[in-house]
Amino acid sequence: KKGNYDHFMQKEIHEQPHSLTTTMRGRLKDKSVVLGGLKDHLKTIRHSRRIIFVGCGTSYNAALAARPFLELLSGIPVAMELASDLLDREGPIYREDTAVFVSQSGETADTLLALEYALSNGALCVGITNTVGSTLARKTHCGVHINAGCEIGVASTKAYTSQIVVITMMALAIGADKLSTQSRRESIINTLPDLPDKVREVLKMDDQMKDLAKSLMEMQSLLIFGRGYNYATALEGALKVKEVALMHSEGMLAGEMKHGPLALVDEILPIIVIATRDACFSQQKSVIQQLRARKGRLIVMCSKGDAASICSGGSCRIIEVPLVPDCLQPVINIIPLQLLAYHLTVLRGYDVDQPRNLAKSVTTQ
Ligand code: UD1
Ligand code: BG6
Repeated sequence: KKGNYDHFMQKEIHEQPHSLTTTMRGRLKDKSVVLGGLKDHLKTIRHSRRIIFVGCGTSYNAALAARPFLELLSGIPVAMELASDLLDREGPIYREDTAVFVSQSGETADTLLALEYALSNGALCVGITNTVGSTLARKTHCGVHINAGCEIGVASTKAYTSQIVVITMMALAIGADKLSTQSRRESIINTLPDLPDKVREVLKMDDQMKDLAKSLMEMQSLLIFGRGYNYATALEGALKVKEVALMHSEGMLAGEMKHGPLALVDEILPIIVIATRDACFSQQKSVIQQLRARKGRLIVMCSKGDAASICSGGSCRIIEVPLVPDCLQPVINIIPLQLLAYHLTVLRGYDVDQPRNLAKSVTTQ
């Protein structure tokens, strides 16, 4: 079943051009997005006062990655909830809310309990899952299957990128009635079919990421700074590194750097800064300058062609990725970090597909 691959995680990382193709199949129709599971509910969603994403782990991170685009296209405030925290707080949920539950398995206990809670409060409940017939798919009012194919590795990889693409398509469908964003929507719809090829291009960085992993394998810790569309990339990259490579890693909002994390910077601690081209590019360039001034050990992820200008003097390592529209860039940017986590795990001698103490589906609280 693993074919030419040593591990399911490796297979699933390399499968992403295909899984993204099946996620989009039949859903892009000349200048519009058609999500069969949502089309009768779009009106209700457009009239909701708030959209709340609920999930755990990687599924939460996928929603976080797509949130800025959904806010932009819908004009509706979008809140983020980790399922356990929503339950701990019994946070307010109203009839006028749309609650979107994201879960690869559709069986995560905290997410399902949060669903029960939102249903009893009268919210419209939408599911985004990879599993047809799952409890989540059955108990939500409506939803979208991500159709990424069965995911076996405990660390979620291909489901993450498919979740981002589905939520992005959901944003395009919700925003379809707005004239002001029409040209922006059309340009994204036109570039979505190219995404699998761009993913294929990044996957060619496998050897480069293995070399990077060799240079990092003895480290105690790894920080990842992102912001805007790629704040989620920082969180998800760090989650991959900690859950499979068993190395301490933290994803951080670069905008918070001066409020604490800067104290950690020295010549030893490796720091990945995500600085691909988008509205946050100039802020990220100044973050890089400040880290370099403190002799931080930097690894910069930038858009193709930007390496020389971003890191003149050559003191940092570079991960150059292809440029895609800002809302799709998280799909590209996570892939080198998935590869890095994979190679770190193999080099450090840990179990890739069954990380210590973790389960694929956490069905108890
Ligand atoms: C559906 C069919 C697909 C077929 C296509 C043809 C299924 C599972 N999907 O895909 O095989 O090729 O029509 O038009 O038979 N749902 C929830 N909660 C969730 C996820 C989904 O309630 O968490 C519901 C949806 O609202 C929808 C149904 O399940 O009613 C199927 O969802 P989805 O597979 O995403 O719909 P289509 O893409 O239209
Ligand atoms: C577990 C998995 O913790 O559950 C993670 O190990 C996953 O990979 C999380 O992100 C949430 O799972 P699901 O199925 O609800 O997306």
